[in-house]
Amino acid sequence: MAFSVANVFSNDIGIDLGTANTLVYVRGRGIVINEPTVVATDTRTGRVVAMGGEAKEMLGREPPDLKVIRPLRDGVINDFEYTEEMIRYFIRRVLKNRFFVRPKVVVCVPSGITPVEKRAVRDAAERAGAKDVRLIAEPMAAAIGCSLPVEEPVGSMIIDIGGGTSEIAIISLSGIVTKVSIRVGGDEMDEAIIQPLRKTYNLLIGPRMAESIKIHIGSAFPVFDEEKEMPVKGLDLVGATPRMVMVNSEEIREALSESVNAIIAAVRLALEKTPEELAADIIDRGIVMSGGGALLRGLDQRVRVETNLPVRLDDDCMTCVVRGTGKVLDNLNGYEKMLETLKD
Ligand SMILES: Nc1ncnc2c1ncn2[C@@H]1O[C@H](COP(=O)(O)OP(=O)(O)O)[C@@H](O)[C@H]1O
Ligand SMILES: [Mg+2]
Repeated sequence: MAFSVANVFSNDIGIDLGTANTLVYVRGRGIVINEPTVVATDTRTGRVVAMGGEAKEMLGREPPDLKVIRPLRDGVINDFEYTEEMIRYFIRRVLKNRFFVRPKVVVCVPSGITPVEKRAVRDAAERAGAKDVRLIAEPMAAAIGCSLPVEEPVGSMIIDIGGGTSEIAIISLSGIVTKVSIRVGGDEMDEAIIQPLRKTYNLLIGPRMAESIKIHIGSAFPVFDEEKEMPVKGLDLVGATPRMVMVNSEEIREALSESVNAIIAAVRLALEKTPEELAADIIDRGIVMSGGGALLRGLDQRVRVETNLPVRLDDDCMTCVVRGTGKVLDNLNGYEKMLETLKD
């Protein structure tokens, strides 16, 4: 490995600005921040009172003078001001007092964001002290992070399922040839769990409980002998008192089916739009899945059954994108072409 003076003093930063989680990679140090993309503000002053994990803890528990915001919730920037503040906060936290070298920053953004939003991200990073800010599309960073041969003249297919969006891309020769992006991801799955519990049990639960149910007993494919159940705590709608009910994995799979079907339909659409030669490559090489949403139990198997293609889940789904931005940082010249995809 090259060991130069520039490397020793380098603070170059890669940021995965996800709808659910933000991860920060620093060259030579690895992943240094992994926190929910959540901001808590004081409604009277508009000032930020907490960021990341601390703010997420407050979600659904906040008193009236506190507001908890997810500024990127649906894959678009819902709140410019707080998105900027978050980027600044994370960059400054990493730099601490090492301001003498202005870092290069690569930010991975959901591929659906508009040119105005891209500029906002770039400006925020610059105001936080960055010298050279580049943007990269999420599926490209995910594919690089999963070690797919993105530069070669063969088709590589990636499905990245995040909180707000699912992005499906077929990449060849450093470019995204086919892309399908839908606003369905882990958040929609959480919401899909809330309604049926309300109907069946008169039980009202919050988004954090819904996410916990999804992670513990949610699934996309029935696995014989693996049905589970768990106690779910919420508020009884009739008596307005706290109550607990046992919920089983079959009813949760049913609740999640619409979101899962939407993802499968998007995968099909991407395959239909793919040129023949690349489709042939994908038959041989299969599909790779990344993002936290890809961890839904049985989702990889469901995609395998529905497409008849080999499917592999990345070993570390939740860090794929930030590891991809790290590789890009380490070789900015080599990856120049991929960075241009967002320059419009
Ligand atoms: N084991 C799991 N099963 C199902 N969903 C999961 C699991 N772990 C994390 N998730 C979901 O993954 C989503 C976050 O994934 P992530 O890739 O960090 O999103 P983003 O890139 O949008 O920030 C959340 O909706 C979370 O609930
Ligand atoms: Mg992501």
